[in-house]
Amino acid sequence: MKQVIRTNKATIEFVNAATVRKRFDDHRAMVRDWDSMRKLCEIFPPVQHNGWTYKSVIPIEFSEDTLTIVMERVSGVTGGKLLRSNPDLLTRSMGTWLALFHLRTENSDGQVLLYGDWNRNNVVIDEVQRAVTAIDPGPLFGVVANGERDFLLTAWSITIGALKLRRNPRPLLRSLGESYNSLRALNASKIREEADNASDLLFKKFNRSPVPIRYLARIGPHLLYRYVIPIILDYL
Ligand SMILES: Nc1ncnc2c1ncn2[C@@H]1O[C@H](COP(=O)(O)OP(=O)(O)O)[C@@H](O)[C@H]1O
Ligand SMILES: [Mg+2]
Repeated sequence: MKQVIRTNKATIEFVNAATVRKRFDDHRAMVRDWDSMRKLCEIFPPVQHNGWTYKSVIPIEFSEDTLTIVMERVSGVTGGKLLRSNPDLLTRSMGTWLALFHLRTENSDGQVLLYGDWNRNNVVIDEVQRAVTAIDPGPLFGVVANGERDFLLTAWSITIGALKLRRNPRPLLRSLGESYNSLRALNASKIREEADNASDLLFKKFNRSPVPIRYLARIGPHLLYRYVIPIILDYL
């Protein structure tokens, strides 16, 4: 039987060893994802760093009739799973990938192109082939802004993931911050400046999510302001 994953906007079908088919519920979301995936591959070709490859999923074709994108099947495990087995590898992989992407897209004012939703379920990590691959650029992909906005959303995702597993998020936030910071300096005043934007994004994302996780629209911003940001500012 074919393996299938259902998310709140699409159905992902693992067709064979090489390809995945993502069927969308609505046309606009499909076109937006297709454009973002194409653009991501264009602006971020694979980067080698300390023996690992940092890259993005390759889209193959799309059909407007069936609202489907066919893409490369990425080998490895998603960040959500790795958070259980090797959380430090996850935070280092995500911090490094994001910093490399921001370095590549940074303009002369120090602003970057946002990835948009760099959360633990949008990355696949292959420990054997030593590759970190982005699979799902978010709705804000390509917007010019401070990289700290992306960073805060990633830090938030690691925090909520760790809390759900009853783990202490502090060392994970530190390892995420250190791996990002070692390549591209995080700026404390930009972290503060981006807090409201990141909070709004969390609210909007979870407010339109299905009921089991909609409560995060209310809790998410509090967790960001009262917990995630103070920890990050503490080690900067
Ligand atoms: N190209 C791919 N290769 C391997 N796994 C994938 C791929 N695309 C999606 N997945 C799996 O499906 C899950 C959901 O896919 P995603 O594209 O993030 O959906 P959504 O846009 O609804 O968030 C991912 O967390 C991952 O486990
Ligand atoms: Mg996703």
